[in-house]
Amino acid sequence: MGPKTKSTYRCGECGHAHSKWVGRCEGCGVWNAVAEELVREPVPLHKSGPNDLAVPVPLSDVSGPQMDRWATGLPELDYVLGGGLVPGSVTLIGGEPGIGKSTILLQVAARLSGMGHTVLYASGEESPGQIRLRGDRLIEDAGSVRVVGESRIEDIIAAAIRSDAQLLIVDSIQTASLNQLDSAPGSVAQVREGAARLMRFAKETGTAVMVVGHVTKGGGIAGPKTLEHIVDTVLYFEGERTLDYRLLRVTKSRFGSVDELGVFRMTAHGLEPVPNPSEIFLSARSTSVSGSAVTALMEGTRPVLVEVQALTTAAGFGTPQRVAAGLNPKRLAVLLAVLERRAGCDFSKLDVFVQVSAGVRLDDPTGDLAVAAALVSSVTNRPTPADGIFLGEIGLGGDVRPMSGSERRLVEAARMGFRRVFAGGIARMPDTLVLVELSHVQMLVPILAA
Ligand code: TYD
Ligand code: MG
Repeated sequence: MGPKTKSTYRCGECGHAHSKWVGRCEGCGVWNAVAEELVREPVPLHKSGPNDLAVPVPLSDVSGPQMDRWATGLPELDYVLGGGLVPGSVTLIGGEPGIGKSTILLQVAARLSGMGHTVLYASGEESPGQIRLRGDRLIEDAGSVRVVGESRIEDIIAAAIRSDAQLLIVDSIQTASLNQLDSAPGSVAQVREGAARLMRFAKETGTAVMVVGHVTKGGGIAGPKTLEHIVDTVLYFEGERTLDYRLLRVTKSRFGSVDELGVFRMTAHGLEPVPNPSEIFLSARSTSVSGSAVTALMEGTRPVLVEVQALTTAAGFGTPQRVAAGLNPKRLAVLLAVLERRAGCDFSKLDVFVQVSAGVRLDDPTGDLAVAAALVSSVTNRPTPADGIFLGEIGLGGDVRPMSGSERRLVEAARMGFRRVFAGGIARMPDTLVLVELSHVQMLVPILAA
């Protein structure tokens, strides 16, 4: 137990300090904005002599940080991390309970420790015995990973220093707490101060730290939004729990690019990287059924092919339903309106359901044409061509915008055996594919199988 330092209660809205917790800020009157925080000793100006002051240096004289990265040997994880874990950085890995966060971290721990790094796995969620059981299931040999069942951050850091850990895993930030704070584990104050403490530890010692964060119903990492601002890298683990594949997405990165996507499959021996996501996303596709269309998306720097499925059925009483999974419902509404007005499709008495290959989000407007094709295909009950992919953003007039810079998507389409590209126009077509120009949504109907 460390010495008890003072804490105070500060309003997150106006900054007013209180000596004890209050529900309503005495400064600005806002409810539920007051949270505990640590009082830091103010450092007096000029306390230290001039020789102790930081000396500014020309940028050209600054030696760059050695960006050596530790490849974990899990290619999909290294890929989203931009090559591997960066020593001295803090990576937050968020996801719903049971999605596989502890599993992948134990795999990373086992791999890095197998390569000779010292790894400490601190768990406030599970006992060392439970971690051992998980480790025994993996293909990786987790035998040399050090574990500690501890939830006080001060003690976790002390254990990391004592064991000279190069990688520290904290599972999870919601169960870890600082002894110095009175707030309960998982509270805003604990999560924020705990993450800040781990961040300081990582920077000061060059230890790589990976922290598990649970996700709330709304999909955010539980705790203050500031948590994501504190750490260097934020990864989200997503996926349908009933299906066995998992998507790892990077939403913030100080050392690489964001929006990269890694795909894993949960097996009896832990998570296995899936090097060909397009194959998984198209695996369930039935080419003879209406209401399905394929498009190519860029997930970060990587092209993946996904299937868009649409189902339209006679609506019951009241307003017809519009249900979109993996697609912005507003975008669906726009596309339905365009098809009604510009292609003569009547959805007014139909329930409309649209979904994208499990877990993938169709945020890229290039997917518009595939959504439209799937909808028209479902309404007319005629399948889209099995060898075709659809690429293009649709304007309110029903026009399909020409594409540029789509080389990588086309290469992926050709690799996956597609022959025709339905698009508003494409600047450079590879020889392996044929372009079928669709400059307007009206032209969708004639291309569907009779
Ligand atoms: P876990 O890593 O404990 O999830 P989290 O830490 O995100 O809560 O993974 C939980 C699920 O994964 C659990 O239902 C069991 C399953 N699992 C496998 O299918 N195979 C395995 O090899 C392991 C270790 C777990
Ligand atoms: Mg867990």
